[in-house]
Amino acid sequence: MYLESPRYTERFGSVRINDIQKVVALDSGLKSEIPPHGAMGVVKICEDTIKDFEDKMAIVIPIKNEKLKLFEGVISGIPHDCLIIVVSNSQKEPVDRFRMEKDTLNQMCRYTYRSAYIVHQKDARVGEAMKQAGYTELVDENSLVRNGKAEGMVIGLLMAKLAGKEYVGFVDADNYSPGSILEYVRIFAAGFSMAKSPYSMVRILWHYKPKFSGGMYFRKWGRVSETTNKCFNSLISSRTGFETNIIKTGNAGEHAMSLKLAELLPYASGYAVEPQELVSIFEQFGGSLPSGPADVVRYGLDLFQIETRNPHLHEDKGTEHLGGMLLAGLSTIYHSPLCDEETKQLIISQLTIQKAMKPKQEPPKPHINRPPCKVHIGEFVKHMEPHLETCSALYED
Ligand code: GDP
Ligand code: CO
Repeated sequence: MYLESPRYTERFGSVRINDIQKVVALDSGLKSEIPPHGAMGVVKICEDTIKDFEDKMAIVIPIKNEKLKLFEGVISGIPHDCLIIVVSNSQKEPVDRFRMEKDTLNQMCRYTYRSAYIVHQKDARVGEAMKQAGYTELVDENSLVRNGKAEGMVIGLLMAKLAGKEYVGFVDADNYSPGSILEYVRIFAAGFSMAKSPYSMVRILWHYKPKFSGGMYFRKWGRVSETTNKCFNSLISSRTGFETNIIKTGNAGEHAMSLKLAELLPYASGYAVEPQELVSIFEQFGGSLPSGPADVVRYGLDLFQIETRNPHLHEDKGTEHLGGMLLAGLSTIYHSPLCDEETKQLIISQLTIQKAMKPKQEPPKPHINRPPCKVHIGEFVKHMEPHLETCSALYED
């Protein structure tokens, strides 16, 4: 794979925020006469390097009642060496969609000789293990994990840890294009290979997000992401004193992290999860507030934003949830102790103008699940390990 080299990097405390890097070519061949670092301004990521990182990576797929065909396509796009972890919150009655997902995954794994895990978000054993770990905010009064994609993500990343992986990536199950899933994961691997620090994150920027309305329109910036990025940049500018537009992936759903970093971040419920990760990175490692772990301060944190070649084609859930998405994302910035008065005013005015909030209101505080490092991960592992085999897609019950 060829990527644009990280030409511009902005620092915010210990965080190295790399500006957008485009994929120049999806493949870079095997021929050794090509200089290992490619041409000027371009980095060559060798196939072996990509495979090395894929081998150390788990890909978590949160899913809730998506079309089975889409799910089937998504899993077919995940590179063979990655461990697939499906966390499903799909219905079991009247139609057992979870069973259908499990069967689909089982079939793919049998045909292609690979392993994968699939677990239901409401599995009592998972709830119990979370409870034992002290993750009280994650479980409800019935000792089951609460609804939500973020909650599913936490299950997934703890499973990745349990499986001994070093990196975890997240891809949605409602993607129409298996080829773009393959590209996302290759980008994750490429990003990690460029990281200097063991604490790293790769966020995907979609090349285009087409809209179908009669013809097809290749849209680059959605209103929600544009506004979220603007508020992120306002927050950074206020702290550094220099205006910036470095953040371009505030809402990126497709993203990956080293597990070392994943353990340090809190996970906010709903659409707030991805923006909250960034907010927390800036809070812990931005240098303005008391710092996170000394190790991170020492090594720094590498944040990559990489733009795909494939367009993003996912299930259109309508425009009603866009307001909720904007509100959830901006509320994470608004309620951060880093947020200055000017950014707060910008957030309120944007939310009101875009009718995501009534005038003279404040955005609600996001529900935040503590970072995994703050709970007893060891207890989760101890309680889940005996059941791991039954979570395998190949397990026949
Ligand atoms: P959008 O793409 O940001 O509009 O959000 P989606 O509604 O498409 O959700 C993103 C992904 O999370 C999809 O794969 C959903 O199926 C999945 N998802 C949504 N809610 C839940 C949930 O409660 N639990 C789990 N495990 N996955 C969920
Ligand atoms: Co979606």
